[in-house]
Amino acid sequence: MIAPRILEPLTLRSLTARNRLWLPPMCMYSATAQDGAVTDWHVLHYATRAAGGFGTVVVEATAVTPEGRLSVNDLGLWDDAQVAGHARIVEAVHSQGALAGVQIGHGGRKAGTAPMRPGAKEGTVPGWELLAPSPLAFPDLAQPRELGTGEIDALVESFAAAGRRAVAAGYDLVEIHGAHGYLVHQFLSPLSNARTDAWGGSPEARRRFALEVVEAVREAVGPRTALGIRLSATDWLDGGLTGEDTAELAGLLVAAGVDVLHISSGALLPAQIPVGAGYQVHLAAQVKAAVEGMTTPGGSAPAVVAVGLITSGAQAEQILRSGQADAVAAGRAALRDPYLPVRWAHELGVDGWQDAGLPVQYWRGAYR
Ligand code: FNR
Repeated sequence: MIAPRILEPLTLRSLTARNRLWLPPMCMYSATAQDGAVTDWHVLHYATRAAGGFGTVVVEATAVTPEGRLSVNDLGLWDDAQVAGHARIVEAVHSQGALAGVQIGHGGRKAGTAPMRPGAKEGTVPGWELLAPSPLAFPDLAQPRELGTGEIDALVESFAAAGRRAVAAGYDLVEIHGAHGYLVHQFLSPLSNARTDAWGGSPEARRRFALEVVEAVREAVGPRTALGIRLSATDWLDGGLTGEDTAELAGLLVAAGVDVLHISSGALLPAQIPVGAGYQVHLAAQVKAAVEGMTTPGGSAPAVVAVGLITSGAQAEQILRSGQADAVAAGRAALRDPYLPVRWAHELGVDGWQDAGLPVQYWRGAYR
C-alpha cells in the first residue's frame, strides 16, 4: 500500500485530524447582511469539502465585531445569537470526518468593502467607520480612525468572546486572522503602525496586540481547543515585515499558546509578489525551522501549515516529505474541486481508503 505523508494523521492538542490537508479560510460573502448569520450555503460548502477528504476545514474570516467585517455579507461571532448557525456547520463537517476550525478576525482599515463578486464596487462602503492602529489609509480605501487604548483593550476582549462562542458552537480549532493586512497585521507591520505608545514603535510594542489577542483567546477557548494564527510572513516591501521578523514572532506566539502557525504573505499594501507554484512555502519552512523543538503549552509540537498555489498531490507530498511544513492547505483549487483530497489520493495511487479515513463511497472513482 502506498502511504503518502499527506494522509498521515495530524495531532493538535488532544485532537487528531485524519490527514494533513487543510481547507484554508475563504470568504464566501454569503452571510445574511446586518446579522452575519450562517446560511445553508455555508453548511453545504464546508460539509462538501469535508466529504471531499480534507482533514481540517477552516471556516472563512468571521468578524469579532460588526465594524470589523470585511463586507456586509461576512460571517460573525460577535453575538451569542450567531452560535447556533456555526453549530450547524460544525455538525455537518464533523459528520464527514473532518475537524472544524473557524478563523476569527477584524478588518481594521480594510473592513467595510463590497462583497467580492463579479462587478463589485471598489472602495469602502460609504459611512463605514474604519478603525486602525494609526490613521494611515490603505490606497483607495477610506481614512481610518486611530484606536484609543481603551478601544484596543475592548477589541482584545472581542476576540476572546468570539473564541468562547466558537467553542460553544463546537469548533475544534480557532484561527486568529493575523495576515493579509487586516487589524492584527496592521499592528504588527511598521508600514501601518506609526504609534508611539505601548502598542507601536519597537517590534515588541507592535507585537503586543497579537500576543494579547493570542493570550486572551487561548484563555477563552480552554484546553481542548487548538489555537492557530494566520500570518503574512512578509509584506514583500522595503521597510515592512520580513520572514526573519515572523520567524522570531512565531516562537513568542507558540510560548503564548498557539498550536498552529498558518503561513501566508502580503496584502498589507500593494506589492510586487513573485506569485508562482508554492511561492510561500519557503516562508512556512523558515517559521518551521524557528519553532523546531518547541512544545506548545498544550503538549504537542507546533504545526506549521503551508499555503499558496499548492495544486497537486505530488507537490503537497514533496512539501511534507522535505520537512518544510506539517500540513498543506489548498484554497482556490478546492473551490474548483471540492473533492481535491480524493483526487490527490487517486493521483498518488493510494489504496488504503479506510485506513486514511477517506470517503469509501468514492474509492471506485480512480482512473483505472
Ligand atoms: C481567500 N483567502 C482568505 N484568507 C484568509 O486568511 N481568510 C479569508 O477569509 C480568505 N478569504 C478568501 C476568499 C477567496 C474567495 C479566496 C480565493 C481566498 C486566501 C486563501 O485562504 C489562500 O491563502 C489563498 O487563496 C492562497 O492559497 P491557494 O488558493 O493558492 O491555495
